[in-house]
Amino acid sequence: MVLAGGSTPKRLYQILAAEYRDKISWDKLLIFFGDERCVAPDDAESNYKMAYDSMLSQVPVARRNIFRLKGEIEPQKAAAEYEATIKSVPGERPIFDLVLLGLGADGHTASLFPGSPVLQETSDLVAVVRVEKLTLSRLTLTLPAFNSYAKDIIFLVAGKGKAEAVQRIFGDEKPPLPAQMIKPDKGKVTYFLDEEAASLLDNETLEKFA
Ligand code: 6PG
Repeated sequence: MVLAGGSTPKRLYQILAAEYRDKISWDKLLIFFGDERCVAPDDAESNYKMAYDSMLSQVPVARRNIFRLKGEIEPQKAAAEYEATIKSVPGERPIFDLVLLGLGADGHTASLFPGSPVLQETSDLVAVVRVEKLTLSRLTLTLPAFNSYAKDIIFLVAGKGKAEAVQRIFGDEKPPLPAQMIKPDKGKVTYFLDEEAASLLDNETLEKFA
């Protein structure tokens, strides 16, 4: 499973660690991350810290089965290490049974931002991203990683702030937003939207996709 960062998934992680704690075979899970900020794992900005505090520290998933993007080391080294880790997982692709992603108000997902050169990446699985509007560099899985290594991908999107991005995505905007470029070769994409995030979708769109 590949976990998402940001703030939206936190409540989901807390629920999985509480109401669903005894319903999940945690010992069978390998945990990866879709992206990470280039900070230490105990930094408030760390996606790993958010997932650890809200779920991973509360459930019996083996520490050896949690694969962190190492935001604390030199980014290119961290990216190369993570790519090697992904490629070392035994078995045929897709190796990620389930990927959880969030959505930014600008249509970004993971650390794949609109207009970023990383959207043109066709082979590397992990990349370093420097985004002017963000102070922190990021490490992110790339489109080849999501589209060739993932089976089922879930977007969890909540809040009025995301409604326009959702409307643009379901309106099949051209050129596509980064989130629209997530198309697993051997899997499917499912959007879980709360009412506010879906509030700009017309009935025809809702009927078509729901
Ligand atoms: C991150 C995430 C990013 C996030 C979106 C939505 O590192 O922040 O990977 O893609 O999912 O920005 O963030 P919120 O859930 O906080 O709205």
